Amino acid sequence: MDPVTVRRADPADLPRIAAIYDEQVLTAVSTFDLEPAPLTYWEARLASTETGDHLLVADLDGEVLGYAYSSSYRPRPAYAQTRETSVYLDARARGQGLGRALYDALLELLRQDGVHQVLAVVALPNPASEALHVACGFERVGLLPEVGRKFDRWVDTALYGLTL
Ligand SMILES: CC(C)(COP(=O)(O)OP(=O)(O)OC[C@H]1O[C@@H](n2cnc3c(N)ncnc32)[C@H](O)[C@@H]1OP(=O)(O)O)[C@@H](O)C(=O)NCCC(=O)NCCS
Repeated sequence: MDPVTVRRADPADLPRIAAIYDEQVLTAVSTFDLEPAPLTYWEARLASTETGDHLLVADLDGEVLGYAYSSSYRPRPAYAQTRETSVYLDARARGQGLGRALYDALLELLRQDGVHQVLAVVALPNPASEALHVACGFERVGLLPEVGRKFDRWVDTALYGLTL
């Protein structure tokens, strides 16, 4: 694949980010959303000025192929140096190192922010996401059985953690 640029998202990217996410909402258990998210959901992510909040995109010649973000894990203030991360790619762009490129850039920003702990929730099964997190240095730190119900079945989540 041609060189892909990882950069901060801007408002013009949000409809494309939403489309990548909504495809997974409707077809996969990777997210526990059951309905597409409104654009205001993405606008709020982009607008966040909290330390450790970022929204990055992988851009190939002006086309957004995927995104990764970091955000609050839980709102209570003692969690401030913990961030939750997530990453989604267009189906055509998977398995080519873009998830890794997005996460490498995101984790570098989190290091600069002084974030201590990074967590990711992976709904199972998702071998690509588990492999990506392990490749980036995360360890599986927990398993929550049958916490989601989607497409008429129970879904487990694995919790992945990385201490920066
Ligand atoms: C999960 C996802 C972001 C991974 O990104 P990706 O660009 O496909 O992954 P990469 O090509 O960067 O590969 C990262 C690592 O995972 C491995 N990997 C990638 N796809 C894999 C697969 N299907 N099965 C097993 N391992 C896989 C790679 O070999 C690589 O490991 P290595 O560095 O040890 O060689 C991407 O597949 C995706 O968008 N999936 C749909 C949405 C989703 O599930 N998001 C995660 C929600 S928790």
